[in-house]
Amino acid sequence: MKSASKSLPTVPTIFIVLGITGDLAARKIVPALDTLAQNSLLPSRFELVGVSRGTFTPTAFKDHLRALVPQNQPTAGRPRAEKIVDELPFIKNSTHVAGNLNDPQVYIDLKKTLDAIDARWGMCSNKLFYLAVYPELYESVLTNLASSGLTEPCAPGEGWTNVIIEKPFGKDLPTARKLDKLIGKLFDETQIYRIDHYLAKEMLQNVMTLRFANPLFGKLWDVGAIDSIHIRLFESLGVEKRGGFYDNVGALRDVGQNHLLQMLALGTMREPKDMSAESVRDRRVEMLKKLVPPTRGELRKSSIRGQYKGYRSIEGVSKDSNTETYFKIPAHLSDKRLKNTEITLEGGKRLGQMLKEMVITFHQEGSELKNYIVFTLEPEEKIVLHLWAKKPGFTMELEEHTFDFVLRDPKTKPQYNEEYARLLLDCIHGDQTLFIRSDEIEAMWKFIDPIVREWSKNTTPLVMYEPDKSF
Ligand code: BG6
Repeated sequence: MKSASKSLPTVPTIFIVLGITGDLAARKIVPALDTLAQNSLLPSRFELVGVSRGTFTPTAFKDHLRALVPQNQPTAGRPRAEKIVDELPFIKNSTHVAGNLNDPQVYIDLKKTLDAIDARWGMCSNKLFYLAVYPELYESVLTNLASSGLTEPCAPGEGWTNVIIEKPFGKDLPTARKLDKLIGKLFDETQIYRIDHYLAKEMLQNVMTLRFANPLFGKLWDVGAIDSIHIRLFESLGVEKRGGFYDNVGALRDVGQNHLLQMLALGTMREPKDMSAESVRDRRVEMLKKLVPPTRGELRKSSIRGQYKGYRSIEGVSKDSNTETYFKIPAHLSDKRLKNTEITLEGGKRLGQMLKEMVITFHQEGSELKNYIVFTLEPEEKIVLHLWAKKPGFTMELEEHTFDFVLRDPKTKPQYNEEYARLLLDCIHGDQTLFIRSDEIEAMWKFIDPIVREWSKNTTPLVMYEPDKSF
């Protein structure tokens, strides 16, 4: 496993946010751009073009962006002067294009704006389109982007154009395939950046580091010694203002189909032959394709679907909703290294605690003793090894000890900012390692769909749980 540092691209970059006045731009994209700017990680020639309904004068648009810049990021140290905020490249060099994203005219206007920027620079820039819109708009936006010629480089071999999209990628295998077919018709796979922000989490990148950079652990995964893997994504918050979206999705598809399965892939995959995007993604998908969905009997016996009391009165949630806000499911991997490994995936909302972790348990033939490696993302980022040692004294008594490695103080990490900054940086560099490939999406749905189907027949009855208590 070799480390790689990146130098900034010399080609200018235009970052186009489709849906610049939406929630995603406000909470994640603009703060992440700010982090990159503060760390001098944006290309020296960088322009932001925002598209949304409603008109802005150039000054009003800058004011809008300025209002989204977090003033107190840890890297900033202390609130920044207005003047410095105005100098941020994505504020200083920003343009707004007004229009409805279903209307082909907006793409014509956008093209004019991009051509004018290229003409000013005297070259064909790299263009990064971020679909910060509801998934219902994906089809229309992607089709319009492609048919307006916006995603073609302005000259062969000069400047790339890439497209970033967010989950959900479909709501089941057929809809995911439909979306993928459309994307595949319009763009090359190398142009598509599908975000699962969990892949950019420092602690999850550390799963690979611990396993593949440390000879101590390297072969441990290959000798059939993994007894069980338990992944938990427990949130203390509830569905809050996302009732309308969440009620059609449920916990299993909201976080199970993506974040938990990606954690499992990182925790079980074989070592990539190198750290290139394709080698790493090949290894992830290899494991995802080996996922075996639980049978009806297994679901009956060991899956749980829960809904917290009070969920049905949230705005946008159906009064007789059967959507789960908590799930627990068993899984298997048809892999000879892990054929006896018990896998449990579990996650949900209003569970009375914030606990996001992957616990890997090791055993040895003929011994009762077990060792654990725990990768924790929250409440703090740490790796804990549980090992046995001799108790001081005159007898051979064993006691369990833990060795902790705490990555950093949780207060230094603003939520989402770091993940999104890393992902945007990688898009700017054209590095797809931390993005989901089309075959990964397909494999993840193939595992989830049969469970959703069984659950819709009430194979596992829904249980109601008290919010804010452990389940
Ligand atoms: C999102 C889900 O993908 O992940 C949310 O839609 C969930 O419901 C979130 O809260 C969890 O991400 P994080 O980074 O807060 O652990």
